[in-house]
Amino acid sequence: MTAVETGWHCLGPAENYRDGKPHAIAVFGTKLVAFADSRGEIRILDARCPHMGGDLSNGSVVGGTIDCPIHRWRWDGNGEAAGGSPHPTPTRAWATLERDQQLFVWHDPEGFADVQSSSASSMSGSRARPASGERLSARASTASMTSSRSRV
Ligand code: FES
Repeated sequence: MTAVETGWHCLGPAENYRDGKPHAIAVFGTKLVAFADSRGEIRILDARCPHMGGDLSNGSVVGGTIDCPIHRWRWDGNGEAAGGSPHPTPTRAWATLERDQQLFVWHDPEGFADVQSSSASSMSGSRARPASGERLSARASTASMTSSRSRV
């Protein structure tokens, strides 16, 4: 098994994710779903629905949220239940960054989501600080991400 470096990992052109559809991403030994929220910001969640395991990448994007194909409950870009969905358990939201029209996702193989201190200053491979005008979505929003350096 190849080690995955801690940092921002490129997922390709950001515009590819702004087509109003969910996109399955198989990385880091798991499956994620990427979609554009109502502001056009690309959000990434675990693809496994926290309710009963539906594959959110097979759902649909409704009002900037991801709609689970099994029971139609919705999850916003922070991984929180949205659209009147009753389930209180959030799903994991991954930090994203756009740079040079590319989408990046933050990953730490040690299981930490320390994008607060690392921020976008440590791009995977390049270690470059982002220029002004870049979009950073580094929200530690799930129940298991209660501090700036907590296990995910
Ligand atoms: S499995 Fe996703 S809402 Fe029930």
